[in-house]
Amino acid sequence: MTDPSPPAEEDPKARVGRNRRTRRPPFDGLPEWVAPATRLVHGNRRPDPLAGSVVLPIYQTSTFHYPAAYSESAEHGGVYFYTRLKNPTVEAAAELVRQLEGGEDARLFASGMGAISAVFFSLARPGEEVVALDNLYGGTQDLLRWAGPQFGIPVRWVSDSEARTPERAIGPATRLVFLESPTNPLLRVHDLARWAQRAREFGAVTVVDNTFASPVNQSPLGLGADLVVHSATKYLGGHADLLGGAVVGSERLLERIDPQDTLGAVMDPFAGFLLNRGLRTLALRVERQNRTGREVAEALAGHPKVERVYYPGRGDAEQEAIADRQMCGRGGMVSISVAGGLDAARRFLHRLRLVHIAASLGGVESLASIPGETSHRHLSPAERAARGIPEGLVRLSLGLEDPADLVRDISEALDAA
Ligand SMILES: Cc1ncc(COP(=O)(O)O)c(C=O)c1O
Repeated sequence: MTDPSPPAEEDPKARVGRNRRTRRPPFDGLPEWVAPATRLVHGNRRPDPLAGSVVLPIYQTSTFHYPAAYSESAEHGGVYFYTRLKNPTVEAAAELVRQLEGGEDARLFASGMGAISAVFFSLARPGEEVVALDNLYGGTQDLLRWAGPQFGIPVRWVSDSEARTPERAIGPATRLVFLESPTNPLLRVHDLARWAQRAREFGAVTVVDNTFASPVNQSPLGLGADLVVHSATKYLGGHADLLGGAVVGSERLLERIDPQDTLGAVMDPFAGFLLNRGLRTLALRVERQNRTGREVAEALAGHPKVERVYYPGRGDAEQEAIADRQMCGRGGMVSISVAGGLDAARRFLHRLRLVHIAASLGGVESLASIPGETSHRHLSPAERAARGIPEGLVRLSLGLEDPADLVRDISEALDAA
């Protein structure tokens, strides 16, 4: 049998969610009181009946045996059927992400954009307003700018200053709200509880991209958001060796997202294995990156070639108060505007000896990029200026190197720029 479709006579509605949720074998329960660091190590433990392996094997298979007809198999505990629908390795990683974000359910995708587009295509409807920050990740903006008009979905873009008053940004027509905090590349924070509260008053769904903060530093669901999305490619995976995405939220909402698994952007088992492995050390990595972020931000603020340091909450009482309320660590992302503009920023990058010049973030090695040439290259110089992004802005993703080495490398490269 090669066709993974269930028999034609089965009522498709009965299938919704069943493969993913109702028949999953239990993960070993953990006591309520365990901290996230413990949860990351033990939260998806399952007995391995074959060999008793401590590390979950990679179920690198597209399909699974089942004893008889599809429906009978489901009745008799035939939990797995076809990897596009469900796979034990991927499911174990999803379980950790679910627990960390405090949701009822989680699903993993082939990339962050796979997760974000699944949310958009499942929840946005023609004629119904989507509200989005105009400093969302560039790929999310590209999706909304392309698919919004294509499917007749009006998108209302909210600038950073308008975002201070969600009461004005969200109205009765709003059905879906896309937020990110801290933002890329200026590390601005938005008051997620206030946004979620306003959206709830109008019955709109709030989606928060928690990629930059990571669930160690920020819990959007606890602040009232309905869905959290991640590029698992970044901090969750943590080693710059996988592509992945996640959506976490209530069972009721997750059942509405790609309910028949037909969008197809699912995580593959090997990426699931790498994500399981990366997640084990998430708390440790993020705690260290929080410390390094603070140290580097402070050290660079005094450097004569740095016009301004961008770090969550920094230099603004209102931002500081929001970050204090909703984040328990400020993260390992720091941006700087280099005196002398784009040319000086380029010279700075080429003088770095430890920090790699590369896009992306959240890995063990520190990376530097110029947002105007990478994540925000699709914007014109005028649009970047309107969003407060200087041409000489450099975004740093700080890794796990010794913080003093990073400060030295960055400072010396600035000296020479
Ligand atoms: C905040 C944020 N969200 C989503 C994405 C998209 O994730 P992916 O590249 O895994 O599709 C990125 C990628 O850089 C990102 O930075």
